[in-house]
Amino acid sequence: MMASGQEQNAAIDGLVSVSNRIMLGIESSCDDTSIAILKGRELLGQFAAVQHIHSKYGGVVPEFASRAHQAHIVPVLQGALKEAGCRLDQIEGVAYTRGPGLHGSLLVGSAFARSLAWSLGIPMYPVHHMRAHVVAHWMADATLTPRQPMMALTVSGGHTQLLEVRSPTDMEVIGTTMDDAAGEAFDKVAKMLGLPYPGGPEVDRLAALGNPQAFRFTAPKMEGHNFSFSGVKTSVLRVLEKTLSGGVEVSDALIQDVCASVQSTIVSILIGKLEAAALEKGMKSIAIQGGVSANSGLRKAVQELGQKHQWDVHIPPFCYCTDNGAMIALSGQFAAENSQAGSLGEAPLARWQIT
Ligand code: KG4
Ligand code: ZN
Repeated sequence: MMASGQEQNAAIDGLVSVSNRIMLGIESSCDDTSIAILKGRELLGQFAAVQHIHSKYGGVVPEFASRAHQAHIVPVLQGALKEAGCRLDQIEGVAYTRGPGLHGSLLVGSAFARSLAWSLGIPMYPVHHMRAHVVAHWMADATLTPRQPMMALTVSGGHTQLLEVRSPTDMEVIGTTMDDAAGEAFDKVAKMLGLPYPGGPEVDRLAALGNPQAFRFTAPKMEGHNFSFSGVKTSVLRVLEKTLSGGVEVSDALIQDVCASVQSTIVSILIGKLEAAALEKGMKSIAIQGGVSANSGLRKAVQELGQKHQWDVHIPPFCYCTDNGAMIALSGQFAAENSQAGSLGEAPLARWQIT
């Protein structure tokens, strides 16, 4: 149930305070191992290992990802402790990504986290990865108390979701993708263009040099709050085939124009849905989060959308857009405030809906 007016702000304020406990957060849902240590809400240290092995395959190879997590997780923990100037016996809780994500990757992080908490005799907190992307807003701004609930758009490599966010622990999904996620669309187009994985940042970089009007890609007609991106991907393929069969050579300029045009198409689909949902629900705050919220075109368009309607705009700093241990640790702090510790027997969940 949604509260109104002052009641909402009171609820949000109440949940934002966290006590000063030291919480470790372990993220291992996909290809990066990231561990952060928070004292209350203050980031004491964060350390990550990026997996470069996938770049030559044009996407994450799950078996390689889980093996790399196994190799990285102990050194990443040591790195985080060193950064934080903290000893293991000072940690008071271990939060970890229980799902959704790649099963093998989740297995490594969750088994490690649960064993660590059990051996230290401290509580463990299973965290929902997609909820944690939203929680990243409270990491970026400790005093975040939106005027009203936020209409929040999560755009990552595996998910695209529109959510009504009433607090860091109270959110509801109102729309999702029917096929590819926004990040996946960026990555697949990049692969077609021969760019390395992850393709999103590459498309973003090259788009800045190209003409967004150079090509017209078909945007899907999807009713309501749901999304579809597979048509955009096919449309890029068709346009490329047609252009190249007409004798046009692949050049840097051509690639830059395709990147600029596809980025503009994806951003306008996302912005259209965000605007319609916020208007329909009468929201005065909008937010984006997840890896694709690092995209410069999307960040600019969301700012412009906010200015157009006089809405508050929430965009995380770059370090909290893509997967990070801090958002997991802060989710653990909120879970601890609400006495929601998990148990040793909780297996990872590769598929897990926000309920
Ligand atoms: O949230 P995230 O780090 O991991 C998942 O939970 O999936 O998101 C990764 C996705 C990848 O698809 C990557 O290409 C995309 O975020 N991404 C970007 C940018 N930076 C990362 N997409 C477009 N522009 C960017 N600057
Ligand atoms: Zn993510």
